Amino acid sequence: MSMKRAAVFASGTGSNFGAIMEAGELDCDIVLLVCDKQEAKVLEKAVYYDVPTFVFDAKNYDSKEAYEMEILKQLHKAKVEWIFLAGYMRLIGPILLNAYEGKMINIHPSYLPAYPGKDAIGQAIRAQVTSTGVTIHYVDEGMDTGTIIAQERVEVLPDDTVETLSERIHEVEHRLYPRVIKQLMIENG
Ligand code: GRF
Repeated sequence: MSMKRAAVFASGTGSNFGAIMEAGELDCDIVLLVCDKQEAKVLEKAVYYDVPTFVFDAKNYDSKEAYEMEILKQLHKAKVEWIFLAGYMRLIGPILLNAYEGKMINIHPSYLPAYPGKDAIGQAIRAQVTSTGVTIHYVDEGMDTGTIIAQERVEVLPDDTVETLSERIHEVEHRLYPRVIKQLMIENG
C-alpha cells in the first residue's frame, strides 16, 4: 500500500492538527497545512512539525472561486490526494469540492445532524440536552451535511460550561480523528 499525501485545513488553535501529527502510522503523510488566518496558533504547530503551509487572506481575492483556485494550485503542486478539515471556518466551494469529491472529510463537535454550523458546543449547552458528541463526515456543498463516517456520543453534565464540555469533546476528537483517517487510508489503499 502506498503512503497517501494529505493536506489539513485549519483556521484556529489546531489541536486536531496536533493530534493527527502526533498519532503516527496513519498511512498518510501530511504534506501541507492550508490556513486562512495569519495569526492562527495552528501555524506555530506547523513550524514545530515541519509541515509546509499555504496561508491566504480571503480579502486579497475577488471571490471564493479565486482563492480556491489558488488553493487548488498549491494542492496540486504538493500532490495532495486527501483533505482533512480540522476547524477550517469556511464553507468549501465547487472548485475544491469537484476536485476532491469523496476525498475530503471534516470533524464537527456535535452528534450531527444536531447542531450544525458555528458554536455547536454552545448550541448544545443552551439546548440543555444531556448528550452531544463528535461527528466525522465527508464534505459536500452544505454546512456539515455530508455522509457520516463515524460518530461518538459525549455526555453533557448538568454543570457543564462551554469550556468544560469543549475539553471533553476535544479529547474524543483527538482520539477519533486519527483513527478514522487511518481506517480510510487502509480502505482506500
Ligand atoms: C474542533 O472542535 C472541530 O470539531 C471543529 O473546530 C474545532 C477545531 O479545534 N470543526 P482545533 O483548532 O483543532 O483545536
